[in-house]
Amino acid sequence: MNSIERTSAVKIGPYTLPSNVLLAPMAGVTDRAFRQLCRRFGAGLAASEMLTAEVRLWNTPKSRRRMDHTGEPSPRVVQIAGYDPVMMAEAARLNVDAGAEIIDINMGCPAKKVCNRLAGSALMQDEELVARILHHVVRAVPVPVTLKTRTGWNRENKNGIRIARIAEDCGIQALAIHGRTRGDMYTGAAEHETVAAIKANVKIPVFANGDIDSPQRALQILQQTGCDGIMIGRAAQGKPWIFDEVNFFLESGEFRRVLALEKVRDIMRAHLEDLYALYGDQTGVRVARKHLSWYFRQHPGQEALRNRLVTIETPAEQLATLLEHFDTGVHRAA
Ligand SMILES: Cc1cc2nc3c(=O)[nH]c(=O)nc-3n(C[C@H](O)[C@H](O)[C@H](O)COP(=O)(O)O)c2cc1C
Repeated sequence: MNSIERTSAVKIGPYTLPSNVLLAPMAGVTDRAFRQLCRRFGAGLAASEMLTAEVRLWNTPKSRRRMDHTGEPSPRVVQIAGYDPVMMAEAARLNVDAGAEIIDINMGCPAKKVCNRLAGSALMQDEELVARILHHVVRAVPVPVTLKTRTGWNRENKNGIRIARIAEDCGIQALAIHGRTRGDMYTGAAEHETVAAIKANVKIPVFANGDIDSPQRALQILQQTGCDGIMIGRAAQGKPWIFDEVNFFLESGEFRRVLALEKVRDIMRAHLEDLYALYGDQTGVRVARKHLSWYFRQHPGQEALRNRLVTIETPAEQLATLLEHFDTGVHRAA
């Protein structure tokens, strides 16, 4: 038996999640179109790209788009990042007013722009400030607040357990732990021993995150860490159906059949159309390029097509090139 009994469904506040396999927030990737796509394939939650807590910076098309959750299935999760407890509380409140049903706090991101202001995972070095931020945000909103963080500030200071306990004491309702320290950035392999230790030290649901890229790996990490669920980031790029594959494997111990080319084509076409609708033609085509290159990285030998697709400037030409490629491919495969 290589599957596990599904543990009881995970609850965050009033929300029972449809799956314990979540999409990780990724700035520049997990826009509304991608979130909806992953939810359709069975992601249990899909947090927005992080939004700065500096409310004065929200009046840009980028921030306005990040705050727009039209058509997203419940519960809608908005991730906020910042360094000031009062500003974070205000940002959380405004997002709840705008429809957020769960607020997620980012203390996991090592990006420079955030860390210059001691935000994201850099906050882990100031536990007292972490407590104040979490306390303020939890008290500011009537919805569940969750925390995404790392195993520690650096390898010498793996304070993930202390941060997790602080979070629980402050009323945080779930944790996602990326199995790297802030100092690791994205290098080396994620280690999940510390994630397991964190899980063992708190009662709230914990989701393990980092380098989970297959159904077997998902199962292994669930078993190794004892976590309530997992969170998948990069492996969903160009493969949003990974959530269906993982859910199916965890439930049945069996593998989904490889997706037919026609299905992949239809998924990509619908995704591109959603991107044009969300961003407008010009930006939509640019955003679509990176998703196309992720979709095609699984198809070695398609470099010429990839290179061509990334130079195209209009939705009509981008879609036509994609369809032409698949029609030839599907025809050949038939
Ligand atoms: C392009 C990119 C953008 C990211 N943006 C965010 C973010 O906005 N907020 C956050 O908490 N983590 C962010 N992360 C970290 C991911 O959520 C996740 O923790 C990390 O990629 C490890 O998981 P994975 O190995 O499944 O990708 C980002 C990661 C990537 C690759």
